[in-house]
Amino acid sequence: MNMELTVAITGASGTIYAHRTLQLLAASGVVETVNLIMSGTAAVVAQVEMGVNLKDANAAKINEWFGLDEHSKLIRYWRLDNFAAKPSSGSYKQSGMIIVPCSMGTIGSIASGAGTNLIHRAADVCLKEGRKLLLVPRETPYNAIHLENMLRLTHAGARILPASPGFYHRPKTIDDLVEHLCFRILDQFDIPHSKKSQWTGEEVSEPPA
Ligand SMILES: Cc1cc2nc3c(=O)[nH]c(=O)nc-3n(C[C@H](O)[C@H](O)[C@H](O)COP(=O)(O)O)c2cc1C
Repeated sequence: MNMELTVAITGASGTIYAHRTLQLLAASGVVETVNLIMSGTAAVVAQVEMGVNLKDANAAKINEWFGLDEHSKLIRYWRLDNFAAKPSSGSYKQSGMIIVPCSMGTIGSIASGAGTNLIHRAADVCLKEGRKLLLVPRETPYNAIHLENMLRLTHAGARILPASPGFYHRPKTIDDLVEHLCFRILDQFDIPHSKKSQWTGEEVSEPPA
């Protein structure tokens, strides 16, 4: 139990993916610290989609939202304008960063290398230090700028894991769909979970003709 990660939530649709991912990281038993950063629009989308007020969030409010003990030290919350935060420096060692959900605005900003807020800067640091940067974009349809930015980021070392849930595990609820995608996010960092996402092939008795 000594892994440290940065997780950023941006203003794309899909706050629920961030919420579930954080809960799974908390339950994994291997993650000691999550450096959490939220964009301003992430709070707007969270209000729209989950009815939660994250404006002026603080550690206690964040812990409450994730169902953690009020004294839990798992989540270290950093303000978006705090360029002195630990994830802002390459000399601060950690395993990598997940941006979930990731807006096209944030994708574009990281692809430009401008580093104008802590999310963009922390992502830039991961790329320059060769650490894992996992982006979970959500937009539909994509335009050529979105696609080119994602290709540019892939070439720079990021991994793109689109928020496009599968159906081969026969989900019955929205939570089944969400969780399956979040399992794939954890898989990218070899973080343990219930393994329900692994395809065994046993579901198909005979190959289709
Ligand atoms: C309710 C709502 C849903 C949104 N959904 C998306 C989305 O799915 N994908 C996207 O790229 N932007 C979406 N946006 C627009 C972004 O929030 C906007 O481009 C913002 O500038 C992104 O900034 P950020 O990346 O710093 O959060 C949405 C905005 C709102 C209010």
